[in-house]
Formats: sequence, structure tokens, C-alpha cells
Amino acid sequence: MNTTTILIVAVAVLAVLGAIVVLTAARRKDATGVLSRETRSRDTDADVKAKGRDYEREAVAARSTALAVPQSVAVAPFSPPDPEVIGVSRRQFFNRATITLFSAGLGGFGAAVISYLWKGAEGGFGSKINAGKLDDIIAGIRSNKGFLYLPEARAWLTEYPKESLAKAEAVYGRQAPVFTGMQAGIVALYQKCPHLGCRVPNCPTSQWFECPCHGSQYNRVGEKKGGPAPRGMDHFAVSINNGSVVIDTGAVFGGAAIGTNTTGQESEGPHCVGSTGGH
Ligand code: FES
Repeated sequence: MNTTTILIVAVAVLAVLGAIVVLTAARRKDATGVLSRETRSRDTDADVKAKGRDYEREAVAARSTALAVPQSVAVAPFSPPDPEVIGVSRRQFFNRATITLFSAGLGGFGAAVISYLWKGAEGGFGSKINAGKLDDIIAGIRSNKGFLYLPEARAWLTEYPKESLAKAEAVYGRQAPVFTGMQAGIVALYQKCPHLGCRVPNCPTSQWFECPCHGSQYNRVGEKKGGPAPRGMDHFAVSINNGSVVIDTGAVFGGAAIGTNTTGQESEGPHCVGSTGGH
């Protein structure tokens, strides 16, 4: 087949296809049809157009997301609840419990303070204590082998030798209430060790005071003889009232300095604290 024949066949095929396209388009136009004059007139009527716009407006309003305005509601006036109905609330319970406990604690503390002051006012340690007649006290000291313990005053009573008063005046003269007792023949020594506060007992054999805690030793009138104590035993103020000895346990005077030895009393036997004895 030559080129000319091919071209002729191609043109013929294109012509047939073009004819088919034209015929198909013509048939589709026939299938759609044409509206009648009445119909076209009705579609263009103004009234129909107006109704269409109304429908569209209603549809838009239905799709609207605008928030609805709530209606106002009247607020009811507040009326407090009846306490008898609700009983005791948790807050009331805790408030009352706190006040009760605080009051009880404060009351207990106040009672303790009053009791302490009352005791001091009526006697006991911290107040002036009547120890009894001077002669009876001297006799008591001698019958107890040189030492008389007065528990309510927490004090040891011992004799002070009259022949040592001259030396005593040089050491204790500035502590008038202490020297007054010495002049009457006695000293009142605080039982508390001036080192670290242990109770110091007497030693019947050495006739000294010997502390069991760290071994401090004092002669019979409380002057330091050995151990770690920083001074002699402390003294209470002593006064003589109508022959009675009054010890003021609220007035404590510091013991004599280390090295003081107004009575010259040396150990009269084995010591109670150390190698020869023990408490
Ligand atoms: S407390 Fe008395 S010697 Fe230490």
C-alpha cells in the first residue's frame, strides 16, 4: 500500500468519526428537550423568585451558630441554715477543740507557776527555812558525828570552830550572812557540787565531803581539798532569830577560792572516794 492510499483511508476514517460526533451531539440536545412557554413564564415569575430568597434566608438562619441569649433568672435571697438542724460543723468542732486544748495547757502552766510560787511562799527550797534552835542544831551535828543533813533546805549543817573566826573574817567577811552563821558556830553548805552539780555526801571516816562523781574533796566547812571542782562548796545565808537558825535557801554564796583553808582540818581517816573506800 502506497502513501497516497494510506492518506485517503485516513481522511475517510476521520470523516466518518467526525460524522459520528456530530450526530451524537445532535441527539443529546434532542434528549434534554425544551421547556414550554408556560413553564418558562412560571419560573421567571417575581413571586416565585421572592419565595426562593425566603427559603435561602431561613436555611442560613438555621445554620447560624450565634449564641442564644439566656433568659434572666431571679436570685433567691440568702437565708442562713438553722444551727439546730445542721448540729456542729467540722470547722466549729476543730475551733472548739483548739480553744479547749489551748485553755487546758495554759491553765496547767498557770497552776504550776502558782503552785511553785505558793510553795516558795510557804516554805521549801528557795525560801527561808527555820532549821530549829541553835543549841539543838549543834547537839544534832555532834550526835551525827559532825554532819547534819537538812533535806528541805538541801543543805549540810556543820560546826565552825570559834578559834578560826579570825581567818574566816578575812575570807568570808564580805559575805555577811555566811560569816554571821560562822560567828554563831555553824555553816550551811549547799549539797550541790560546784564542779558539775552532783549531790555531795559526807565521808564519816575522813570527816570531809567527798563527791562520788569526779572525786572532789572538801573539808568539813566546805573548803576545797582536792579534785576538779573550781572552788569550795557554796554557802546559804544564815541568820539567828530569837535563838532559832534561819537558812535562806534563796541566797546562795559562792564557795571559797581554791587554796583556802581557814580551819586547817586535815583528813581524819580513810577517804570514801578513791583507793581506800567508795560510795
Ligand atoms: S560533780 Fe563533784 S566532782 Fe564532779
